[in-house]
Amino acid sequence: MTDPARESIPRHIAIIMDGNGRWASERGLPRKEGHRAGAEAVREAVEACNEIGVRYLTLYAFSSENWNRPKPEVAALMTLLERFLKTKAKEIGKKNVQLKAIGRLDMLPERTRNQLDKVIAETSSNDGLTLNLALSYGSREEIIDATKALAKEVQSGALSVEEIDHDIFSSHLYTNNTPDPDLLIRTSGEFRLSNFLLWQLSYAEIFISPKNWPDFHKDDFRAAVEEYKHRNRRFGKV
Ligand code: FPP
Repeated sequence: MTDPARESIPRHIAIIMDGNGRWASERGLPRKEGHRAGAEAVREAVEACNEIGVRYLTLYAFSSENWNRPKPEVAALMTLLERFLKTKAKEIGKKNVQLKAIGRLDMLPERTRNQLDKVIAETSSNDGLTLNLALSYGSREEIIDATKALAKEVQSGALSVEEIDHDIFSSHLYTNNTPDPDLLIRTSGEFRLSNFLLWQLSYAEIFISPKNWPDFHKDDFRAAVEEYKHRNRRFGKV
C-alpha cells in the first residue's frame, strides 16, 4: 500500500547554493562568472518548482558573512541580483511567482533594495510559488532580532513570558507566515548549515549533492524531490 505521507512532495524547499566559485575556477574563469552561471541555475530551480508543484522556495543568495568577501565580488553579486530582478521580474510575474526576501535588507545598496522592493510589490498578488530570497541573511541574527522583538513586547506588557511558545517565537522570525522547509538541498558536497534557517530546518530532510550549484540542473532537482518522497519522516516519533 502507498503511504500518502511518503508520496507527498515537499511544500517548502530551501537551498544552499554552494560551489559557484569552484565551478568558475575549474574553468579558469573569474568567480563572478560562477555566480552568473549560478543565477541561470536559479531560473531552472524556479521552473522545476512550478512544474512539480512546490509552494515555497527559499534560496540562500547572500549571507551576512558574505559582506566580508572582497569588495569587487560583493559588487558583482549585487549587480547580478539587480540584473536578475530586472530581467527575470517579468518572467516571474507571468509564472504567477510571488517574490519575497528575508534578511537585514536595510544593509543592501539602495539601488538593489529599490529594485527588490519593486519586484516584491509587483508580484505581491501572485498566488503560485513563493520565491524567497535570503539576502544579507544570517540565522543567528534573525534569532537575535526575534528575541529583541519579543523582549520589547514583554517589557511593554503586550506579552507575558509564559505565552512564549514555538508558534509565538516562529511568528517573530523573518519567515513569519511561511511553513518550515521540508527539504534542504546543499550543493558542492559540503555538510554544513552555514547559519541558514537554524530554527526552521529543525525537522527538514537534508539532500547533499556533490555538484557545484551552476551544474545543478532540473533533473538533479527532480532527483532530490524523488529521494525526499522515500524518506520516512518521524518528527521524533517511532
Ligand atoms: C556560494 O558559492 C554562492 C554564493 C555566495 C552566492 C549565491 C548567488 C547566486 C547563485 C547567484 C545570484 C542569485 C540570484 C538569486 C540571482 P561560493 O562562491 O561560496 O562558491 P565556492 O565555495 O566554490 O567558492
